[in-house]
Amino acid sequence: MRKLRTQRAIAVLASVLLVGGVAACGNSDTGGGGSKDDGKITMGFSQVGAESGWRTANTTSIKESAAAAGIELKFDDAQQKQENQIKAIRNYIQQKVDVIAFSPVVESGWDTVLKEAKDAGIPVILTDRSVDSADKSLYKTFLGSDFVKEGRLAGEWLVEQKKGATGPVNIVELQGNTGAAPANDRKKGFGEAIAANPNLKIIASQPGDFTRAGGKQVMEQFLKANPKIDVLFAHNDDMGLGALEAITAAGKVPGKDITIITVDAVKDGMQALADGKFNFIAECSPLLGPQLMDLAKKVKAGETVPPRIETEETTFTTEQAKEALPTRKY
Ligand code: AHR
Repeated sequence: MRKLRTQRAIAVLASVLLVGGVAACGNSDTGGGGSKDDGKITMGFSQVGAESGWRTANTTSIKESAAAAGIELKFDDAQQKQENQIKAIRNYIQQKVDVIAFSPVVESGWDTVLKEAKDAGIPVILTDRSVDSADKSLYKTFLGSDFVKEGRLAGEWLVEQKKGATGPVNIVELQGNTGAAPANDRKKGFGEAIAANPNLKIIASQPGDFTRAGGKQVMEQFLKANPKIDVLFAHNDDMGLGALEAITAAGKVPGKDITIITVDAVKDGMQALADGKFNFIAECSPLLGPQLMDLAKKVKAGETVPPRIETEETTFTTEQAKEALPTRKY
């Protein structure tokens, strides 16, 4: 009798373990669509960090759009480190997500991990920033701004403003983080545009890492080392906003003693422009979420998508900022 009871108990335990084991397999598959086709889409997204107002607006756009599109989002903040992004992408590959999307903190060094995703059959979408990989088959598409154009628009505005200048116009430049596509490209576009007037000279150029703290600190150094600064070109609003503090502390009037040009057009930047502290902004839109989710659905359905989708953008003067501010979403 006792033997029979023991045998029954073992049988029950075995079936519990079996059911539990199947359920556990099912759980690990949840959100992993790479191998199953249940109509649901899971996206693994690796974000650069939270360095700027632009980035915060971009993260909000992605999270809200995923929820609206019914896409399960796995989100990771890489805190501005490439190794964290590579780790997150490898985790998403292991979890067999349906689509991986990411905004690469720097342009180089992605081939190995992108090849791992490709070998696992998981499509990759680049958003906001691109990579410099020669093999374009490693990702499906790149959705984002033309950063060279943004720099060029900023430079062309300055050329027009300073067309009557008879002597040197000294420009300082606050770059984004070293190696990032927007830092490389905005520098290039701006440099090419101002070459039209030999009076316009970049006398100092340093990374401020796209942060307010970085912008303030580097601007303080610029002001100490250079008695005559006529223009500041900051690669984003946040660095420009940080620089405002340094300029004011140095006893100069931003927007008057020093002409300030930035990129992004987030609310705080637009307010500074409306107040006459900034003079010109080239827009870079962070609202990429809806297009990204649409692309995810298409690649998951096996549809062909264009290899490059450029964001529509504009520029703002003080008057235009005053008009746009009341309805500005971010
Ligand atoms: O890649 C977009 C840039 O990154 C934005 O211009 C900047 O604000 C952000 O940090």
